[in-house]
Amino acid sequence: MVELAFSILAADFAHLADEVAAAERGGGTIVHVDVMDGHFVPNITFGPPVVKALRPVTKLPLDCHLMIERPDDYIAAFAEAGADMISVHQEVCRHLHRTLQLIADHGMKPGVVINPGTPVDTLIEVLPMVHHVLVMSVNPGFGGQKFLPFTLEKMAYLSELRHEMRLNFRIEVDGGVAHDTVAQVVEAGAEMLVAGSAIFGPGGAEANAKDFLAAARTAEARVEAEDDPENDEE
Ligand code: DX5
Ligand code: ZN
Repeated sequence: MVELAFSILAADFAHLADEVAAAERGGGTIVHVDVMDGHFVPNITFGPPVVKALRPVTKLPLDCHLMIERPDDYIAAFAEAGADMISVHQEVCRHLHRTLQLIADHGMKPGVVINPGTPVDTLIEVLPMVHHVLVMSVNPGFGGQKFLPFTLEKMAYLSELRHEMRLNFRIEVDGGVAHDTVAQVVEAGAEMLVAGSAIFGPGGAEANAKDFLAAARTAEARVEAEDDPENDEE
């Protein structure tokens, strides 16, 4: 089942609660929170206080994407602030297994993220312990960048691995996912679809979220019809 994880990075920060409510009315089911430290990525955004402020204004799960160095130092603070899911970048975790375990020990769902240039094979050993794998389809740091099509193969490969290894982690995609790319990512196997500028751009979050999800569900229905053996033509 595809879901919209709307990224508040592109929202109007002066009216964050209203923006979240609008995206939720439009069908968004996950709040994606982009945490940047100015070291791992060039940009700086927000941290646990913003998660804490969001917690009482929505029942939706808060999916925190940590684009920060030394994520272990902040996991307890995100848990206390009310985060439901935490994803950490493979590129910053020297002890990836330990960090993912730490997230789970704090009662949150652990996810691992890979940059466009990082191979899926670096994750094989931790796949059994993650709730989701986030495939970056842009280099992290900014919203509104152009989707990198070669990352589609990584989503499809993860989907194959999940089947072969009999696992059930979810596949999330982030960066440049919009009307023109949503069908391709769904066809490649992504289910948690992060979108920022496509939702909080002109048109309003409610209407944009509805349009986005309609396109995602059309692609999903097509994939399901193709996978259904009853539709095989001999
Ligand atoms: C990029 C962030 C994304 C960003 C996506 O570093 O991780 O979540 O908000 O923005 P769009 O959807 O505009 O590419
Ligand atoms: Zn993100």
